[in-house]
Amino acid sequence: VIRAPQLPRVHLFVCANVRADDNPLGPGCGEAGERVFKLLKEESLRRGMVHQVWVTKAFCMGICPKRGATVARHAEDGRGIFRDVDESDAITLLEDA
Ligand code: FES
Repeated sequence: VIRAPQLPRVHLFVCANVRADDNPLGPGCGEAGERVFKLLKEESLRRGMVHQVWVTKAFCMGICPKRGATVARHAEDGRGIFRDVDESDAITLLEDA
């Protein structure tokens, strides 16, 4: 095992898990997660933050939202999991990066 020296200031894990419509756990983050992932990737690139901010697509984190997507944010100033994230508020997760 070799520990890589690179670490981002902020690492965002965006759930884009898809379940069948009739799944008792709900449909998952699915398309909302795909939209949030795309937006965060584009915005971090637009801001020239690709080395400070890593955005990674993920599967279910066990905190499934009723709407939007779930995003885990690991940053130098702390960690948190955010539910119900949509395109209108996803950008706030880039703040302080
Ligand atoms: S399906 Fe996204 S957190 Fe569970």
